[in-house]
Amino acid sequence: MQTKTLRINPKKPELSKIRKAAKAIRHGKLVAFPTETVYGLGANALDPMAVKKIFEAKGRPSDNPLIIHISDRNDILFLARNIPPIAGRITQKFWPGPLTIVLKKSKIVPKITTGGLDTVAIRMPKNKIAQLLIKEAGIPLAAPSANFAGRPSPTMARHVLDDLEGRIGLIIDGGKTMIGIESTVVDLSGKTPVLLRPGGVTLEQLRKVVGRVVVHSTLIGKRSSSIHRSPGMKYRHYSPNAKIILIEGTKKKVNAKILELLNSFKRQRKKVGIMTMEKNFRHKADMKRHIGTDHEKIAANLFKTFREFDSKKIDIILAQGISEEGLGFGIMNRLRKAAHKKIRV
Ligand code: TXA
Ligand code: MG
Repeated sequence: MQTKTLRINPKKPELSKIRKAAKAIRHGKLVAFPTETVYGLGANALDPMAVKKIFEAKGRPSDNPLIIHISDRNDILFLARNIPPIAGRITQKFWPGPLTIVLKKSKIVPKITTGGLDTVAIRMPKNKIAQLLIKEAGIPLAAPSANFAGRPSPTMARHVLDDLEGRIGLIIDGGKTMIGIESTVVDLSGKTPVLLRPGGVTLEQLRKVVGRVVVHSTLIGKRSSSIHRSPGMKYRHYSPNAKIILIEGTKKKVNAKILELLNSFKRQRKKVGIMTMEKNFRHKADMKRHIGTDHEKIAANLFKTFREFDSKKIDIILAQGISEEGLGFGIMNRLRKAAHKKIRV
């Protein structure tokens, strides 16, 4: 299959181009498109044949459910049932935006979309191209991140092409995504809201609006029997080819450990990269990337930087941990899942 790229202006999307992509969706095809978080791989969420193509193109296990993207907040009324009042409050505040809610699914949502679950994940993205595409298609779009399964999520059209060229027909190039890590996933199908994946909306922001939010045990390092609540949690994720070693602790100790590891891997003739959140970091590696000092910048650069290390054939990435406040929770979650090894000093 030939993969075409359609460049669309993210500030002023050309409607004729959007309509072309929407038509492909209506014909049951796959279209990769930008959202404010990462690029998504979209298809008609209500058409099992179209959704099947997503799983095939990504090499995604069939029990890992997809998020349904809508352009009108009222669409939850026909995609979900038993909707609790809290869903209204939360979506009023955070939609459109990087928040996904999990509710009991309605009959019209096929089981393949929800990975066999009785619940459905829904989000209304805040990106003009995404919103217009959903609106013009006239159907909700199932869309996982548009990377090959296990790889870092794409934050640029180029990343989608690198992973999925020849496997999908169309990629909309709408520039770099703003946030850089995926949406926050919160389960509202039970009595108390449960945070299943930290992301673009922070836990602190959520708690301000909803009050009590339980953090799923796997997110705080505990093993859990209820892992099936979000099947995606059990798979390895976001990994570049290079092996990431994540080092957490006080700054001084972390930096000393980085130096020690750097020297030891150099003796083994490995190509070593350092990913730092500090400016003027002095150690000499084969490749060094300062990915940002504040959390917004770090999130925006994280997945892109993973891929840059790969393009320089780096074997080992030594990465500094950061604080888990605010957006830091989502960033550290991605780093931990991507890491080959975690060291605390
Ligand atoms: O920012 C995002 O959310 C991006 C953009 C494209 O919207 N999408 C995304 O999709 O990250 P994906 O498929 O890569 O991640 C979806 C996550 C997975 O961890 C999945 O297990 C979880 O959401 N999920 C989906 N449906 C669920 C459900 N019914 N119950 C629990 N977890 C669910
Ligand atoms: Mg993903």
